[in-house]
Amino acid sequence: MSPSWVRASAPAKINLHLGVGPVRPDGFHPLATVYQAIGLLDVVTVSPASAWSVTVAGDDRLALSDVPTDDSNIVVRAAQSLAEHAGVEGAVSIQIEKGIPVAGGMAGGSADAAATLVACDALWQLATPREELLELAAGLGSDVPFALVGGTAIGTGRGEVVVPAMVRGEYWWVVASSSEGLSTPEVYGEFDVLADGGGLGDPDIPDELMAALRAHDLEKLVLALHNDLEPAALRLRPSLSDVLAAGVEESALGALLSGSGPSCLFLCSGREHAEQVAYGLRTADPLSLHSLGRVAVARGPVGGARVDRVG
Ligand code: C5P
Repeated sequence: MSPSWVRASAPAKINLHLGVGPVRPDGFHPLATVYQAIGLLDVVTVSPASAWSVTVAGDDRLALSDVPTDDSNIVVRAAQSLAEHAGVEGAVSIQIEKGIPVAGGMAGGSADAAATLVACDALWQLATPREELLELAAGLGSDVPFALVGGTAIGTGRGEVVVPAMVRGEYWWVVASSSEGLSTPEVYGEFDVLADGGGLGDPDIPDELMAALRAHDLEKLVLALHNDLEPAALRLRPSLSDVLAAGVEESALGALLSGSGPSCLFLCSGREHAEQVAYGLRTADPLSLHSLGRVAVARGPVGGARVDRVG
């Protein structure tokens, strides 16, 4: 008997290194990145329906109203691409519960797309081969394949070519989201303005970062954290430098912008330390950190998109 609903979840991503090269003729930028999936999850529930629909719920501080609830939502495109691929007829209703900041530089939309792919695959009992799901994922967005794979991985191409990396132990992060999102294309556009067509080579993955991850050496990891989009995002949202500085002031080992921002990441030595840094940020002077949204603690790496329940 086919299920009447399927619930799946997928994690937020952070980039421990985000190297960006000069814009390509197709408008995308070549990347050399190290992704890590962390324990901030979006949950997606799909069930058969007579028409396509999307609903969104979650914490008010996550800018939920910015998520489209029509067919332009990436979850509808994800379900439709799998339906077309498998020759399935019929629509589904899709409920999204957001735990990942919206337009936060943490690939929340990509996580939703990945969760929808695995949920619909189970709903329609397709058992689609992994390689085919990854191909569909790449067609939906640059970060969607990583949301399927999870863990810690190297991303190349426009981010869609993902190879798992060897990493020891767990890493504790404080994630400071912002009350207002940043548009990824705008941040890349500002990156192009700053690069001014010159000086950019092919991006690559630093050996020091991979060695630090293999050894679980947090001191070396802090020195290797890097994001090429940070100057562009800080130009568009200067107040983010106050948030980054505040986390370090609260004793975080290191601070980094997440992807295209505006979420900020703080590396901590363990869960307790992360809770302490998060508490410090939550109780900081709201006037000096006026754009600060939700402050959360998350562990990485965690697994990729998976089916949680079938009903
Ligand atoms: O692939 P995705 O739909 O997530 O990309 C959103 C936008 O981000 C693209 O339209 C492009 O403007 C920018 N982008 C880019 N280079 C990448 C990934 C994304 O310029 N490697």
